[in-house]
Amino acid sequence: MSTATLDDPSTERRPDGQWAVETHGLTKRFGDNIAVNDVELLVPRGCAFGYLGPNGAGKTTLIRVLLGLTHADAGTMSLLGHPVPKHRDVALARVGAIVDEPRFHGHLTGRQNLQILAAARERAARDRIGPALERVGILHRADDKVSKYSMGMRQRLGVAACLIGDPQLLILDEPMNGLDPAGMQDMREMILSLVAEGRTVVLSSHLLDEVERTCDAVAIVDRGRVVRQGPISELLAGATFVVEVECTEPERARSLLDGTSFRPRVDVDPAGLRISFPAGTERDVVAEVNRVLVEGGISVYRLQHVQASLESWFLEVTSRLGSPE
Ligand SMILES: Nc1ncnc2c1ncn2[C@@H]1O[C@H](COP(=O)(O)OP(=O)(O)OP(=O)(O)O)[C@@H](O)[C@H]1O
Ligand SMILES: [Mg+2]
Repeated sequence: MSTATLDDPSTERRPDGQWAVETHGLTKRFGDNIAVNDVELLVPRGCAFGYLGPNGAGKTTLIRVLLGLTHADAGTMSLLGHPVPKHRDVALARVGAIVDEPRFHGHLTGRQNLQILAAARERAARDRIGPALERVGILHRADDKVSKYSMGMRQRLGVAACLIGDPQLLILDEPMNGLDPAGMQDMREMILSLVAEGRTVVLSSHLLDEVERTCDAVAIVDRGRVVRQGPISELLAGATFVVEVECTEPERARSLLDGTSFRPRVDVDPAGLRISFPAGTERDVVAEVNRVLVEGGISVYRLQHVQASLESWFLEVTSRLGSPE
């Protein structure tokens, strides 16, 4: 595996360092509880990548392991092509991260907090303080004490703290937490603009909708395990194909469909039918459903192929995992 040979910082931009984050067999246990379970994660460079899972799935723990805040029990990992923990300092020099809530000194101003962080970095970090504060939209409050900041302002200051290191990789744990809808929109735009500059942003979230709107690719994690990963468009292509039908006599419509060769799963509700076909079903089936119903004397008022959202797909995956084999 290439990660073992990437010892020199100058190799950061080599094509074989194509992954911003790479893990193999990564495992972290708390007693009997396996919080990170044999995780194989490949995050391509230059994208917004969502680490998506319900509460307690192991998102924060994975991030803490990646950053060396807690040790792994098994497995290997690399950040920006540098194996960690072996080359942790080189790797982390180009990584900005917010884990859980960003923590700052409340009695100091936002700017003073960044000055302290910049002092531990290269000289250029100091010059980035002003632009970073401006970029996250809190320059006008930079000289107020952080104890007076709202949750959203602290989140923004957290991103500014990442930016003073000019990171190639940002790892943000639940960046939308505590933000109002406008704050979420700002955060989303900020993430997309960072990606547009060629940086990689990994964000963890339990907010499926936010991940779907913000990220290009995603890993879905359930009870410590990555159950699926890849570009969102490819994952959705593996989702069930659903057709909604508004029609008369839904029960009779269902029996008509039961008698066809394609035998879909049909759920009846007061508005009509929800028909599910296996992944990969061709669109032509919509016309076929219409033909069967109309020839059977059913009046069809609406017939629509519903684009599966990541959320419905996610629920499908996790419920399948939860069901008895
Ligand atoms: N320091 C710890 N000691 C013991 N167990 C822990 C510790 N940290 C996390 N865990 C356990 O590991 C599992 C994963 O927790 P983690 O905080 O990583 O989940 P999460 O996906 O970040 O959840 P959330 O969406 O609630 O933030 C949980 O079962 C949790 O109880
Ligand atoms: Mg968490």
